[in-house]
Amino acid sequence: MVGGLPITIEPVSEPLSDAVRRERMREPGFGRVFSEHMLTIRWTRDGGWQDASLHRYGPLVLDPATSALHYGQSVFEGFKVYRGADGSVAAFRPEANAERFRASSRRLCLPELPVDVFVDAVDLLVAHDHEWVPTAPGHTLYIRPLLFASEPELVVRPSEECLFVLTAFVAADYFPRGLTPVSVWVADHFVRAAPGGTGAAKCAANYAAGLAAQAEAAEHGCDQVVFLDAVERRWIEELGGMNLLFVYGGDVPRIVTPELTGTLLPGITRDSLLTIARDLGYAVEERRISVDEWEADVRSGAMTEAFACGTAAVLTPVGRVRRGDAQWTIGDGGTGPVTASLRERLLAVQTGAAPDPHGWLRRI
Ligand code: COI
Repeated sequence: MVGGLPITIEPVSEPLSDAVRRERMREPGFGRVFSEHMLTIRWTRDGGWQDASLHRYGPLVLDPATSALHYGQSVFEGFKVYRGADGSVAAFRPEANAERFRASSRRLCLPELPVDVFVDAVDLLVAHDHEWVPTAPGHTLYIRPLLFASEPELVVRPSEECLFVLTAFVAADYFPRGLTPVSVWVADHFVRAAPGGTGAAKCAANYAAGLAAQAEAAEHGCDQVVFLDAVERRWIEELGGMNLLFVYGGDVPRIVTPELTGTLLPGITRDSLLTIARDLGYAVEERRISVDEWEADVRSGAMTEAFACGTAAVLTPVGRVRRGDAQWTIGDGGTGPVTASLRERLLAVQTGAAPDPHGWLRRI
């Protein structure tokens, strides 16, 4: 059973040998090397959640008229499973991802998968693919839940049929340069999300909408793009795939991050880092911060560090900002001490090397 739903379990009859699996896991990239099983659950408007199945990882067969392919009624999640120094395996805050998955589904008129089904499904998949949780430093098993409109009909309305697909892949550091600071480009001509839109949902279309701005950033020699609010084009929102946090120096460092206005993703790594910052005695402010303030505070020396965070990227320093012809370097352009302390503590909790006072790890 997964959360009270009956499930058919058909493990692979001939698992890969240790040698082949280890070879595949050596240079995994991101989203290329999947574990051996996957889990699917169908949903229909008349019958609800049904036909749960754990089976061999492989392609889906889809009708060309599958609604999600045309109209983007599709949401996903991402979180990681870590191997501790003692060999144990734990997922980081899967319940929080389950809740956000429901919120995203609500926004996209998709059915809401119950939290206990989501979490049990993760436990079951990871239990079958335990060996795929890497031991290499910095490598993890990334869990990717997906829910999409699978009905083969092209009337524009909420789908009568959906498919939940749970897969897991081996992930290396998202940024191949590790803790080397990234440069960011402020997008003045593209917006990611508008009030009343889908910015707070983890839906497929938000990522597609960011690609042109990301390409513009690359043309200007920057690694990532910073999106501003759609109305005044002055308030900092997020990077599209990551949230942004700023550090003001002083006796008690102050962490400032854009408040959750409904147009940016409520990142679980963001939330975890704000909690850790408070635990470490730093001050924390969630408020609007403008791009002009960013530039002025860096130039005056008040803001000493900035970093991006997300499940995939963990925590990555931002060294340099470009906006049109202007550019500014944050601190000395390297990794600041507050950024380093937050990253170290987060990774220590995730890998079981530090206490877990908030109960974030779910042992599997
Ligand atoms: C994550 O940080 O895990 C994300 O989902 C963002 C992106 C890599 C898709």
